[in-house]
Amino acid sequence: MPAHTPDTTSVASWVADATMAPSMHNAQPWLFHYAEAENELRLLMDATRAMPRSDPSGRGLHLGCGTALFNLRVAAAQAGWEPRVRLMPEATGPETLAMITFVQPVESDEVAELYPAIRRRHTSREPFSDEAVPPALLDGLRGAARAEGARLDLPGDWQVEWIQQLVWDAEFEEGLSQAVREELARWISGTDDDPRTGAARPEGIPLYALGPRRYDGRAPVRDFAGGRYVEGRGSAVFEDAPCLAVLGTREDERKDWLRAGQAMERVLLQATQDGLSTSLNSQVLEWPELRRALRDPVSGAEYPQMLIRLGYGPEAPDTPRRPLSEVLVII
Ligand SMILES: Cc1cc2nc3c(=O)[nH]c(=O)nc-3n(C[C@H](O)[C@H](O)[C@H](O)COP(=O)(O)O)c2cc1C
Repeated sequence: MPAHTPDTTSVASWVADATMAPSMHNAQPWLFHYAEAENELRLLMDATRAMPRSDPSGRGLHLGCGTALFNLRVAAAQAGWEPRVRLMPEATGPETLAMITFVQPVESDEVAELYPAIRRRHTSREPFSDEAVPPALLDGLRGAARAEGARLDLPGDWQVEWIQQLVWDAEFEEGLSQAVREELARWISGTDDDPRTGAARPEGIPLYALGPRRYDGRAPVRDFAGGRYVEGRGSAVFEDAPCLAVLGTREDERKDWLRAGQAMERVLLQATQDGLSTSLNSQVLEWPELRRALRDPVSGAEYPQMLIRLGYGPEAPDTPRRPLSEVLVII
């Protein structure tokens, strides 16, 4: 056994923090294996939670696992450990996404400061107010993405209109594809209760987190109800000129998706720390032609990975997570 290793209780609590991360449709496509004797924590993908119709390449799945990895780094740093991460290490199977070892003492790691935001961050599908996000905060968020090797672009007015158009196109495509709608429904309908046991399901998007129906306004907030009536769900006016950001990477391989996920979570935690509400939208990214159209029209160089909405709004609710016993194996 290496001279100094974290105890399993600590590692388990960091993994619990990791699982607070956002994931596509709250599928939580991650597994963790900790070998205490080797001081090695593996992050694996859980392919049973893949979405072959909406995410055939697994890009969204990798993004979700990247967000969990970032939370894990923050939690370990906050506890005084330095997590050393190797992405997609050689000589492991394709399902191993990262190998992490922990060393002490930690060099002072600024990400530790984001720890309180891990459990405060939620996806908010509520309307945001018209209050502008101060440029200094937006600069800070750009820096957060850059620190993780990604880029956060803040489109101007006409580009925001273009993005809104692309989201409507994606909604239209989604409406036409029965296969996509069925896949989506698996993560939404009945998520409040497991029909077999009557217990609350620990995954998927619960009806209480859908937010109101759009009565008016143009902010690109996905309506997961897909036109279905949901009891008690009101309607609201969303912002017309939302503050949007596009997270992008220079390349588009599996490692880049994992980096993008870490960058996304760093941006979201920083935004939460700054008192902002956030929501994500991947509809455009789920259709290759629309995703291409979202590339920077000037340079065309970046691969867009996520559309992020920022602003001031009401606090959003917690969503369920799988119990630790289902996602962590200690060897
Ligand atoms: C790759 C990815 C794609 C996502 N796409 C959307 C989306 O299109 N619309 C949306 O409202 N939320 C989207 N989300 C947010 C998830 O639905 C959300 O993280 C999940 O339901 C858990 O809720 P929480 O973020 O409040 O913890 C996405 C998240 C990830 C990681």
